[in-house]
Amino acid sequence: DGAAALELIQAHIRDVPDFPRPGVLFKDITPLLNHPQAFAAAVAGLVDPFRAGGVDHVVGLEARGFIFGAPAALALDAGFVPARKAGKLPADTLGQAYDLEYGTAVLEIHADAITPGSRVLVLDDVLATGGTGRAAVDLVRRAGGTVVGFSVLMELSALPGREKLSDVELHALLSV
Ligand code: PRP
Repeated sequence: DGAAALELIQAHIRDVPDFPRPGVLFKDITPLLNHPQAFAAAVAGLVDPFRAGGVDHVVGLEARGFIFGAPAALALDAGFVPARKAGKLPADTLGQAYDLEYGTAVLEIHADAITPGSRVLVLDDVLATGGTGRAAVDLVRRAGGTVVGFSVLMELSALPGREKLSDVELHALLSV
């Protein structure tokens, strides 16, 4: 059932202290990826709330959003669209700047990747400050897509990411 699935997922996320910096407790998803039942439960949990409405594209956010986004797209019979850091995509792109802890970065998608009027699910592993998700949602809308949701494995509840995405249907499997 759902509670057992969530427990299986949670049991395969590893806390790593002092990564990437002293004082930070990093949530490591690699044990989950290496456990097929837990990985499958995570992908199902990410997509299930959005099955009924239909999804045309899943946008996965570099880099861990690719790992969940690709099987999620197949599960939804949707196309997969990578949202990448600046300079990685080869054809014409749309770009959106977002804030990092220090400075800014740019997220890009291919300009022709989103069919105008299509239904788009944005997907990532973690929602922290919300900067990355916000940039992705804005990119999809600029491309003419309708964002039907933003689905993440984990929401870091100590951070105000959810507030930055108040205009989006946010689905977090776990709040940590
Ligand atoms: C992490 C995470 C999300 C983003 C969330 O990615 O995978 O994409 O940060 O943070 P935010 O809500 O504060 O924007 P990261 O930037 O570390 O990139 P990576 O997956 O390529 O390592």
